[in-house]
Amino acid sequence: MSKLKIIVGTTRPSRSAERVVPWVQDHAAAHGAFEVEVLDLRDWPLPFFAEHFGTVGDINDPTYSQPLVKAWNQTIQDADAYLVVTGEYNHSVPGVLKNAIDTVWLSHAFRNKPVAAVGYSAGIGGGIRALEHLAQIMVETEAVPLRSTVVLPFVHDALDDSGQPVSPATTASLQVLLDDLAWWSTALERARAAGELTPGRLRLRDLTLKATATGSPTA
Ligand SMILES: Cc1cc2nc3c(=O)[nH]c(=O)nc-3n(C[C@H](O)[C@H](O)[C@H](O)COP(=O)(O)O)c2cc1C
Repeated sequence: MSKLKIIVGTTRPSRSAERVVPWVQDHAAAHGAFEVEVLDLRDWPLPFFAEHFGTVGDINDPTYSQPLVKAWNQTIQDADAYLVVTGEYNHSVPGVLKNAIDTVWLSHAFRNKPVAAVGYSAGIGGGIRALEHLAQIMVETEAVPLRSTVVLPFVHDALDDSGQPVSPATTASLQVLLDDLAWWSTALERARAAGELTPGRLRLRDLTLKATATGSPTA
């Protein structure tokens, strides 16, 4: 089974995540492909990102500025797939979520693993702009953002009293997302086991240094 970590992207009191996350978590657990854990950023009061090479310690086993930062990098590393559940703040992801992603620094913990997302908002947008932005952000972590998403417009009315979506299309879109996530998780687990390239930015640095030292072109 793939280890799926559901990252809850908002933390404020009265957040709508309170209603959306149980629905997502229940379906993910019932899907059958995943061992599910919820990473609620409320339980991870990460410092505002300020790591630098002076806080890292041993680059192969970074200590960072605080044990919580190290633990966050480790829990992200200890996953095969991610499902981000988030509201939209000013047409993007909430700052607390961006900070949690930035905090995965130097460990390359998201690398070569799939990430899917469920978005919601109080209005008609359903969080779609946050999800589009999230996909761009995750590309830079070298995660593999998936095409399939779930959006919940008018989130206050999107779920009924039993916590299930009012629209059958919403339930169907979560099923599609979970199927895709399971497929990609298995595919990328196999690919990682077969061997991974050194992260691109490190290869670029090494090739550039070598070319500079020898005066030869890199290509
Ligand atoms: C600071 C802030 C900015 C927001 N910006 C947007 C926005 O740009 N687009 C949108 O559709 N909804 C926006 N909303 C509405 C949120 O998407 C909605 O309140 C959602 O429930 C937020 O998630 P949360 O309740 O889990 O915190 C914003 C809400 C807040 C608090």
